[in-house]
Amino acid sequence: MTFANPNIPEEIRRVASDGTALRYALMELGNRPEVIALGRGDPDLPTPPHILQAAQRALQDGQTAVTPIAGLPELREAIAHKLLTENQLPVSTDNVLVTTGGQEGLFLIMQALLNPGDTILVPDPRYTSYDEAIASAGAQMVMVPTDHNDAFNLNAAAIEASITPSTKALLIVTPSNPTGGIVTRERLEQIADVAIRHNLIVISDEIYEKFVFDGWQHVSIGSLPGMSARTITLNGFSKTYAMTGLRVGYIAAPTDFIEALARVKAYTTGAAATVSQRAALAAITGTDEALAEFIPIYEERRKAMKEGLAAMHLNYSDPRGAFFFWTNSTPTGIHATELSYLLLKEANVLIFPGTAFGENWGGYLRISILQSTDKIIEALARMRTVVDNYRLKGE
Ligand SMILES: Cc1ncc(COP(=O)(O)O)c(C=O)c1O
Repeated sequence: MTFANPNIPEEIRRVASDGTALRYALMELGNRPEVIALGRGDPDLPTPPHILQAAQRALQDGQTAVTPIAGLPELREAIAHKLLTENQLPVSTDNVLVTTGGQEGLFLIMQALLNPGDTILVPDPRYTSYDEAIASAGAQMVMVPTDHNDAFNLNAAAIEASITPSTKALLIVTPSNPTGGIVTRERLEQIADVAIRHNLIVISDEIYEKFVFDGWQHVSIGSLPGMSARTITLNGFSKTYAMTGLRVGYIAAPTDFIEALARVKAYTTGAAATVSQRAALAAITGTDEALAEFIPIYEERRKAMKEGLAAMHLNYSDPRGAFFFWTNSTPTGIHATELSYLLLKEANVLIFPGTAFGENWGGYLRISILQSTDKIIEALARMRTVVDNYRLKGE
């Protein structure tokens, strides 16, 4: 599989080996009304009205003063209650810190946890925003392989084989961006055993926890015996409540680590925006009706996606959770970076190449379901013309 096309513009070539920069460069090129974007992972569905009303009320009440660094006490308490009752994490208010989105949460965690010389294990492929957060702490990332034939479930033996004396932590993300895989309870138990034996801290990114399909279950590793003292759980409101732009996330961890995070947060962004925290409080204490309505919408889109990819004879990893189809594009004979560019240029469809999630993934595309079913069908029909055309040329 070669990356040959000389027509790929310089702005794509320049960033081809930097996943996050590559995603942003493609989004920039795809920022035209005729483009159907199946790239980003931000929900397109409307934020539920009671959440918007809470934000409006907070503004009308003049709630523009800052909250404590770790967050609005009522919000921290509500998050702790949710984690205790829904995720079986043994936490209270002091174990919770509210962040300006999960993205900031990741950065704070790496700054507070890692030192130069430390290594952290991260599954391959990965959400490449982890890279910058880890590098900015001066630490090294070590990839743990995952496998299409195993639905990109994480494997305890592969983790153990990657451990060296400098390994301080393991990052897991379930459901996974970009693969849509989940880490099953059985595997989490095996991973917990490895973490305990090797004294690893586990960072568990659970931002897509509410989006699990086909009867699969989300399990929080921090709920397993012996794990709460060594687990840092990251979650947020962006995906669950379709409120990405309000920027609220949270971290649950032992209290001394929460205090360390709060110190870093105080030096950087300070507390999360008060209005956004009020909206988050309404989200987490309010009705889950809207969330229940989101699920059948996503189910319908998943069905359309499966049919469209089958029509192109492209196969994908079992999408058990999150919003993504991790699709094997090798039958096209074109490197994924190039294919993404061609899809954008020739079909006005924005899809991220696997290379935006790790250098080994030039044979995959990450296709998201965050457009209406009609648009997904249209995008796949456009995509098919390109795929068929290149497949024919390759034969
Ligand atoms: C795996 C993962 N973690 C964390 C985040 C951060 O999300 P946000 O900053 O919107 O909370 C994202 C966003 O796409 C993500 O995909």
